[in-house]
Amino acid sequence: MQTVAFHSYRGGVGKTLLSVNTAVQLAKFGKKVCLVDFDLRAPSLQSYITSESVFSLDQNDFVSFTEFLIGKGSPEEVINPTKLENFYVVVSDIEILQNKSQTRSKLTQHGEGRILAKLFEFIRYCNSQEFEFLIIDCMPGVTYRSLDALVVSDKIMIITRPVKSEITGLGLVISECYSKLDDTKFYAIMNQIETIQDLKNQPNQMDLKIAQDNLKGIASTLKNNNLEIDILHSFRRVPFVTERIYVLLEDPHPFTKEIQEFCQKLISL
Ligand SMILES: Nc1ncnc2c1ncn2[C@@H]1O[C@H](COP(=O)(O)OP(=O)(O)OP(=O)(O)O)[C@@H](O)[C@H]1O
Ligand SMILES: [Mg+2]
Repeated sequence: MQTVAFHSYRGGVGKTLLSVNTAVQLAKFGKKVCLVDFDLRAPSLQSYITSESVFSLDQNDFVSFTEFLIGKGSPEEVINPTKLENFYVVVSDIEILQNKSQTRSKLTQHGEGRILAKLFEFIRYCNSQEFEFLIIDCMPGVTYRSLDALVVSDKIMIITRPVKSEITGLGLVISECYSKLDDTKFYAIMNQIETIQDLKNQPNQMDLKIAQDNLKGIASTLKNNNLEIDILHSFRRVPFVTERIYVLLEDPHPFTKEIQEFCQKLISL
């Protein structure tokens, strides 16, 4: 089994959109996939899966990953099958966090490795069930929990947008965090890039120059550290209106096509 984390320095860069669509597409390619919402502070997977008719799971039927992590519920109970063959989901629960501050602090602060141990237990179970991919949608930034997710992952997809404010942060996360992880492979994914065609229609020379400088800045940040990280894929900016599983609901669609290409690369890594 491959454990693949989707992580970023900043929030709101596209981790959830990309990880959900990737996980579903891998399942459509016949891989047995488990997708975990590990953004414990701001879980959002439920809005994708309950808003789609294909996943008509009742919200009350879920045992959340949060419960498993604090010692209630087994891995078996938190892994939900879906109507899509090979696709399983694990959701996190925002209510627990809202209602119980004790649980919140247990989950977001240093816990002497207890959460890490639960994650390893979960991965052992997934291995025993012959999952081929475990996709983890992480919390952004460097937090105890995002570090736990990164430690248990074989591959880390670093999602970044070509904006200057993310470039410096990216360098920091690479040097402070990624470079300390042994036996982990890193790949950068650029998201929300403007293509030359897009840029041709709008901007002035200044915008164009900033966009090009930002792209160069990211490329050199990825190469400038002890780790050399290649850009595995670049997703263009598409006007999205909702949180959707494009690969299920929109085929053909340019974004669906890009996810399919990305998944082919992921499978062949
Ligand atoms: N390639 C893209 N083109 C257009 N919009 C995008 C693209 N990727 C992501 N978005 C939009 O950006 C917003 C943030 O995406 P998403 O929620 O996936 O980010 P995130 O990294 O998971 O955020 P958080 O760190 O808060 O969990 C969403 O509205 C999403 O639809
Ligand atoms: Mg998210």
